[in-house]
Order: sequence, then structure tokens, then C-alpha cells
Amino acid sequence: MFMYNPKVLEHYHNPRNIGEIEDADGVGVYLSGFCGDITKFWIKVQGDKIIDVKFKTQGCAASIASGSILTELVKDKTLEEILRITKEDVAGALGGLPEQKIHCSLLATDALCDAIYDYLSKNGLQVPKELSEKHDKIKLELQRLKDMGYILI
Ligand code: FES
Repeated sequence: MFMYNPKVLEHYHNPRNIGEIEDADGVGVYLSGFCGDITKFWIKVQGDKIIDVKFKTQGCAASIASGSILTELVKDKTLEEILRITKEDVAGALGGLPEQKIHCSLLATDALCDAIYDYLSKNGLQVPKELSEKHDKIKLELQRLKDMGYILI
């Protein structure tokens, strides 16, 4: 059994920036190989910064809180800096997550990275190799789920 701290619960009950951006510059998704949950991010980019960000998740309380806090962590950071945000940074910003819930914060960081991948590739900008490989892996896994009849966000 585990307990969430008050900050996690507060972000879970009042998540920031939930929703979609209709004319997003980048959309990204991440599927957890661990639990099968999914998070999707939408971003608007200006220069090398994210000026608007929204997310949705089909996941647990920790994944909702992680997405929520990550939308706050990206403020005033460059895309390069955002790509360096780790699941541990997200968990730390939430004041900690139970050990068995750390993987939930990866949904947020990797979905946001995938949205940055989408933005960079659509605009003919250089995509870091690691980001590209991660995207290809997610794409295959999502296709597999769609083929099995899953309805994804
Ligand atoms: Fe799947 Fe938390 S258990 S995201």
C-alpha cells in the first residue's frame, strides 16, 4: 500500500492545462509498456520555447499529477532544456512519488518529448537520434494496440 503526498493529490484533483490545443504545433503520445496507460501532449511553440501546452491522460492519479506539474515545469525553458527533464525531476517537483509510481511520471515526460519530436520533424528541424528512435517505438506499439481494437485518446 502507498500514500500520495498532498501536492500530488492537489494536482490530481485540480490538474493544470488539461485538454487539447486545436492548432497545436506538435502533438505527442506515450504509452507505458509497464501498465498500458497513455498520455498525450499538445504544444504551441514560438522560437525555441513552448508558449502553450495541454495534456490528457488515460492513467492513474500519479500520471495526471505528473502531466499537470510538467505543464508548469516547461515555462520559460527552451526545447533543449525541456528534453532534458527526467521522470525524477517530475517526481521531485511533485514532492516525491511512491517508488512503484515513478514510472507514471515517464508518461508525461515522454509524451511531451514526442510532441517536440512532432514539432521538429514537421518543421524540417534537426531531430535528436534518441528522440526519433523513441518515436518509432511508440508508433509501432500504438499501431499494435489500434489493430487490437483499443480506442486511444
Ligand atoms: Fe499506469 Fe500510473 S499505473 S500511469
